[in-house]
Parts: sequence; structure tokens; C-alpha cells
Amino acid sequence: MGGVEVSVLIPAAGNGERLGLGPKAFLRVGGRTLLEWALSPFQGAAEVLVALPPGLKPPRGLRAVFLEGGKTRQESVARLLEAASLPLVLVHDVARPFVSRGLVERVLAAAQATGAAVPVLPLPDTLIRPEGEAYGEVVPREALRLVQTPQGFFTALLREAHAYARRRGIAATDDAQLVRALGYPVALVAGERTAFKITYPEDLPLAEALARTWNG
Ligand code: CTP
Ligand code: MG
Repeated sequence: MGGVEVSVLIPAAGNGERLGLGPKAFLRVGGRTLLEWALSPFQGAAEVLVALPPGLKPPRGLRAVFLEGGKTRQESVARLLEAASLPLVLVHDVARPFVSRGLVERVLAAAQATGAAVPVLPLPDTLIRPEGEAYGEVVPREALRLVQTPQGFFTALLREAHAYARRRGIAATDDAQLVRALGYPVALVAGERTAFKITYPEDLPLAEALARTWNG
């Protein structure tokens, strides 16, 4: 990513409630913190901004600017966006340690070309809408995708999308939703199974195993 005018924004201000081990930024996998993992595919980025939970001391030795996150992911990203100084942003969850440089390059290239791009994956399992406790209608999985990060945008566009969401009271779990709510199309690129989000306790041994052989 050398030479590209991009700000990398890492929302890392969550409390990791489903995992139950405190904020994920400082959780160690394979001997490194999730924050270190999350930053590693962005080496060479001109600017890196990280939102941490209020009151947490920024770690030393990392090439990043730290600020205080908000109550929701959306608020944390909004604060990071305010501080971003370059025309493109890549927004990446701290909870996704295994992102290849190839994935970053794909997202970045599509975002530069279109203004908004996100990685997606097909769903491996059968999907249903349960009827109470019983098996319900099958939802055709061919029509659906799982959405990952990093997500890339023109900075001005994502700022406008966040401002619009704030005015309209729209709450979203990722940034592409807000850009789409504004009426702007978001391009899709191929995601990676390894870029999964560490969310539940069962995800940790998987991450530990992957950390042993991972070389991006
Ligand atoms: N996040 C954030 N600010 C918040 C809430 C979440 O920056 N107020 C970040 C998290 O740090 C994470 C991403 O948004 O990088 C969302 O991933 P998620 O798995 O939901 O992380 P947590 O919110 O920490 O976990 P949980 O929802 O289980 O509490
Ligand atoms: Mg969360």
C-alpha cells in the first residue's frame, strides 16, 4: 500500500462482551496482541488511527495515533473519521487478526476506483428462518453474502454517510450500510475465510492454531 494516500482506521473500543475476556485490542493470540495483528497488513500506510476504550492506556511502540472510542462501533468510527487527514480510508475491526496483504490490496483498488468497497464471502451452511423452536423456511444462501473488513471508502463519502446516519438516527454494524443508506453503491470484492472475526470463546483456539502458520 506504499504511496497510497490512505488513513487506516481501527475501531478497537469494544468491550468484547461475547468473548468475556475484556477489550480485544490487548488480547494475545500467538504471542501478539490483536491490535498488533490487526495493524500488520497495513504496514506502509501513511496514517493509522486507533480508537480504544475510554480510560485504557495506549500501548507503546506501535506506529499509530490513539484516541478515545465511543459507546458504539459507529460512534468510534465517526471519531476516527474526524481525525483522518487523507482522501481514502480503510476501516478495519481489531477483532480480525488474519487479513492478507492481498485482501487489503483488493479492497483498496476497488475503493480507489469506485469510492466504496467491502470484502464478502458466500455462506457455507444451509440458512433458515426458524418457526419458534422448529425448522422453518429455507433462505436461499446463493443470494446472500457475509460481510467482512477492511472496508474502503473515499473519506469525504464516509463522513457524509456518518453525518446522514446521525441526522436520521440510523444505527449500523458496519460502515458500508451507512454509505448504502445514503444511496451510494458499495462494490464487493472477494473476502477470505481466514479474515473471520474473533467473537466467541470457541474462536480463540482456531485463532491460536492459525497464528502458528500464518504469514499473510
Ligand atoms: N468497537 C468499537 N467501539 C465500540 C464497540 C465496538 O470500536 N463502542 C469495535 C470493536 O473493538 C471491534 C468492532 O468494533 O473491533 C466490532 O467487533 P465486535 O466483535 O462486536 O467487538 P466488541 O464490540 O468488542 O465485542 P462484543 O460485541 O461481543 O462486546
Ligand atoms: Mg460489538
